[in-house]
Order: sequence, then C-alpha cells, then structure tokens
Amino acid sequence: MNEIKIEKMDHQGRGIGYVNGKVTFIKNALPGEIVLEKIVKETKNYSVAEVVEYKKKNHYRMEPFCPYFAICGGCDLEHMRYEDTLNYKKEKVENILTKEKIIFPSIEVIENPSPKHYRNKLSLKIENNKIGFYESSSHTLIEIKTCPLAKESINICLKELKTLQIKKGSITIRSNYNDEILLIIKTNEKVHFSKETFLESKIVGIVLNDKTIYGQNFFYERMNGFLFKVSYDAFFQVNSYITSKMFQLVSENIKNNSVVLDLFSGVGTLGIIASKKAKKVYSIEIVQNAVLDNVENKKVNQCENVFPMLGDAFNTISKIKESFDMILIDPPRSGLSKATCEFLLESNAQEVLYISCNPLTLARDLGVLTTKYELKRCLIMDMFSYTHHVESFVVLERKKEERSSIS
Ligand SMILES: C[S@@+](CC[C@H](N)C(=O)[O-])C[C@H]1O[C@@H](n2cnc3c(N)ncnc32)[C@H](O)[C@@H]1O
Repeated sequence: MNEIKIEKMDHQGRGIGYVNGKVTFIKNALPGEIVLEKIVKETKNYSVAEVVEYKKKNHYRMEPFCPYFAICGGCDLEHMRYEDTLNYKKEKVENILTKEKIIFPSIEVIENPSPKHYRNKLSLKIENNKIGFYESSSHTLIEIKTCPLAKESINICLKELKTLQIKKGSITIRSNYNDEILLIIKTNEKVHFSKETFLESKIVGIVLNDKTIYGQNFFYERMNGFLFKVSYDAFFQVNSYITSKMFQLVSENIKNNSVVLDLFSGVGTLGIIASKKAKKVYSIEIVQNAVLDNVENKKVNQCENVFPMLGDAFNTISKIKESFDMILIDPPRSGLSKATCEFLLESNAQEVLYISCNPLTLARDLGVLTTKYELKRCLIMDMFSYTHHVESFVVLERKKEERSSIS
C-alpha cells in the first residue's frame, strides 16, 4: 500500500496520482487529497487503485447521496459539489480540444437545474431474481432498490418489477413527460405480467424479446410544443430539461429558407424543429422504427418539408441530389466516419451544428472539420449530471476563404 497525493482528475472522473513516477488512477479521490491506496490492477504503463483510507480530505468533498456510489458503475461524480462537476466537465472538454490543437471560443455551460431524478431511461440486469447494475468493470451484479438519477416514475416501477418473476435477463424502463412507462425485456423465461401487480406505475406497453406482450410498443414525448412518437427501440435523449434547451439552440441557429441535412436523426426531433424555419429537411437514421416514428412525427407536427430516409448515414447521403446549406449531426459515441467528415468538407454547407456525447470523438472529428470550418460557438450541456459524461454542442461556420472557393 502507498500513500499518494491526488494531482488531478482523468476523463473518467478518477483521481490521478503518481507512485515512483508511474501514473495511478483512483476512483472517489479528488485533487489535493492524500489517500492510502491498494493496487487492484497493474500494467507496464499504469496502475488502477482503490482508496483504503483518506489521510487528507478535500474541503469541497461531498457525501455521496446514493448508497451504491463507488460500487455501481453509474454516477461517478457524486463526491463533488454540483458546481465543481460542471467546472470539471468544462476543463475536461477544454483539455481534450487543446490536445487536438483545435482553436475554440470560450466554452458556455448549460447546467441542469435539477441534477437528480432526471433520467427517463434505466437499463438493468437481472440475475438470480435480483435486479440491478453491474459493478464497474465487472460482471458482478449489485442489486438496487432505487436510483437517485432516475425519474421518480422509474423508481416506483423498479419496486414493482419483482412481480414479473424473471430470474435472468435484462430490462429497460423508459418513462415519458406524462410518467407513462414502457418496459423492454430480454429473457428466455415466461414473464408473469398482470395489471394488478403494477398498481402504482402507468404501464402503457411491455415488449418482450422485440414482441409486444402488453399494450403498445411506443409512447409519445411532448416537448417545446412538439409531440414525438418514440418506439421502444428508438433513441430519445435521457434528460428532458437539457433536451428542451438543445431544441431551442437548434431552432435559434437554423437559417430561414435553408436546405438542411439532419444526420443520425432518431425519431426526427432536431429536423422537425429545424423544418419550422428551413425550406427542406432531409433526415437520415439507421433504426427502422425510428424512421417510421419520424414519418408519423412530421405529420403530427405539420412539417411536410421533412423527408425521412432509412439507412447508414454516409451511404444514404449520396441518394440526395440537392446540396445543403446547413448540416445537423448528432452521432453515437463513436462520432463520424472519415468518409462522413470528408463529405462535410466537400459539401456546400455553410454551417454545421455538431452535437456530441463523446468529447474525444468530437475533438478528433473537429481536427478534420476545422480545416474548412471555424468554431463559432462551443457549449457543454449537463445532460448526464453527476456522471463524467458530457454533451457538447458546437456551431461551425465555413471559413471565409473556403466560401468563395465553393461559389
Ligand atoms: C445520439 S442519437 C441522436 C438522435 C437524434 N438526433 C435525437 O436527438 O434524438 C444517434 C442516432 O444515430 C443513429 N445511428 C447510429 N449509427 C448510425 C448510422 N451509421 N447511420 C445512421 N444513423 C445511425 C442511432 O440509431 C441514433 O438514433
């Protein structure tokens, strides 16, 4: 065991210290703290350790509000004050962008006014009748009775899940603006559902191994005056307050009468919002049900100028013969492929709005995109409060010299 001083934090919210010059990552340890640590993993280049004893605690350390903190792999910043988690995220994005040599304006921060009970989706594992999360970096299940980051309607449902009598499998609970619940279950077992055993939860549908066994396989989300159908397997952002802010930002940045491409469009949210100012919006998404939801959503929200398309982002763009004035991109954590970045560079688009849930891939892609685009605005949105994850929103404008070369 070694005594070690925590110098800074890494991108995953862990403390970083050095033992004989070797970097050591320690969960639940803050800069300035001195801890006695036990190595749990050692490689040639680094060690991973656990705190055995705090010799000196930081004055801004907080008592974690979740009983499973430091065991479950979910929220990893509960030992910090909320404002410090925001500063940590801002500095983290600044460091990542700087390392990629990206020139960026000062980062604006959109905070979450209620950083607990915000998640509208919880994915859980079931083993030996126990429902919970895997311990971080392991397959040991931690049974959980409640999750302080999840909406109350999800926690109420979590209490009633036992009545399904599933021994092994997985279950996702999704809840909408009206606290309605969709259950998505994967198991090889028979599921014992009866309405009487879910007295408190407003279950609107249960999907077992992709088949609807009760009610419907979708619900509706209502946000910023829009109504969105969301199928059980379609993506929707997990935090309603921050999503509503994101929608406002998209709306503010769309130019009147523009032709917009919405890549990775999910159920069509951003494209539908953009369509109220744009001339035309082409949306591309790979999940079939999400595209079918978009077809319905454009009708419900009276956006005849939205054109939903099914397919892989890059392979489908070439089917559109029109050129774009603006491009909206909101990819999964892996970011954009090289080919998609090249397409953006060669397109006519004067502006790109890039929304990202992974600053590492955002920075990598910006490394390519900033050869022809300039970063005009850079925001982080606290979509995933009390976790090390961060959502970014950047506005890119084509460089002046590049504009003339296109026209
Ligand atoms: C972060 S979500 C964004 C969805 C939407 N913009 C929203 O805000 O609700 C990323 C979306 O990309 C889709 N996706 C993943 N890989 C894709 C690909 N290769 N081509 C097109 N869509 C893809 C996912 O199904 C998901 O709906």
